[in-house]
Amino acid sequence: MSAIPFRPRRLRQSAAMRALVSQTRLHAAQLVLPVFVIEGEESRPISSMPGVLQHSLDSLRRAATQAAEAGISGLMIFGVPEHRDATGTGATDPNGILNRATAAVVQEVGDAVVISTDLCLDEFTDHGHCGVLDGEGRVDNDATLVRYAEMALAQAEAGSVLLGLSGMMDGQVAHVREALDEAGRTDVALLAYSAKYASAFYGPFREAVDSQLQGDRRAYQLDPANAREGLLEAALDVEEGADIVMVKPALPYLDVLRQVAESSPVPVWAYQVSGEYAMLEAAAANGWIAREAAIMESVTSIVRAGADAVLTYWAMELAEWTRR
Ligand code: PBG
Repeated sequence: MSAIPFRPRRLRQSAAMRALVSQTRLHAAQLVLPVFVIEGEESRPISSMPGVLQHSLDSLRRAATQAAEAGISGLMIFGVPEHRDATGTGATDPNGILNRATAAVVQEVGDAVVISTDLCLDEFTDHGHCGVLDGEGRVDNDATLVRYAEMALAQAEAGSVLLGLSGMMDGQVAHVREALDEAGRTDVALLAYSAKYASAFYGPFREAVDSQLQGDRRAYQLDPANAREGLLEAALDVEEGADIVMVKPALPYLDVLRQVAESSPVPVWAYQVSGEYAMLEAAAANGWIAREAAIMESVTSIVRAGADAVLTYWAMELAEWTRR
């Protein structure tokens, strides 16, 4: 047999050797745990997201403490109000569930965990859209920006230090930045959900937040067919003052993630969404897939593609596994 000049298998011969040459490492510090909070004393399970809860304030406080102890760097809070209306007034009420929960969590963990809040109206509107509607029932971009600015100030006041702009309105980053700066809140950072696609993989999330949406969000979220448009959105958000940009969902959009990571001057995050979670949990529950290995592989792939941090509902378990 002639000599084989290259033998890459040499570096795969033992677990220790493989660990030594690993090119992507997961760490608890790069994980953000998304959490849901409801009104009332009792937390509730979410049937399409086994293992994920709609937290009560008390159980959310405990979850925040546990996340801090596990070395997780961030929490992203979504509020699920009992009452909704056309303009989402619960979003700007200091006593609204999201603002109340934010203050409670900040009181609990301080700045040991970066406390972020979803800055979007969909959980608070009775029609379930991410903005306010005009006379014809269409989402009114510029009228929505006024509400986002008010929301930003309310969330900053509650103690959120990183606002998650997930509404996909044009100009939202610049508008919110200006409102914060004018109010003297130059300290509050902005996470722009820049390349957020109109995805079927948000299905279970709609149950998690008890969404009132009829129809879809295709008039404001990105068409799954368009990668270049995702790059444009990320570039615009950086120009408008985003501190971090995000691609969402994660696994079906690794190409977009990779391209944004190659060109972005600011950190790039990815959101492994509810449908990604539900699919894998369902397959694992049926014994069709090896749960832990599949979770690790999916998150490793997201980081390998270029994500500096990942929002994932498995953050607590991952933090434990990556410590081994
Ligand atoms: C909107 C928002 C959504 C998600 C995060 N923020 C839902 C949507 O755009 O329809 C989805 C997250 C997930 O599916 O895990 N506030």
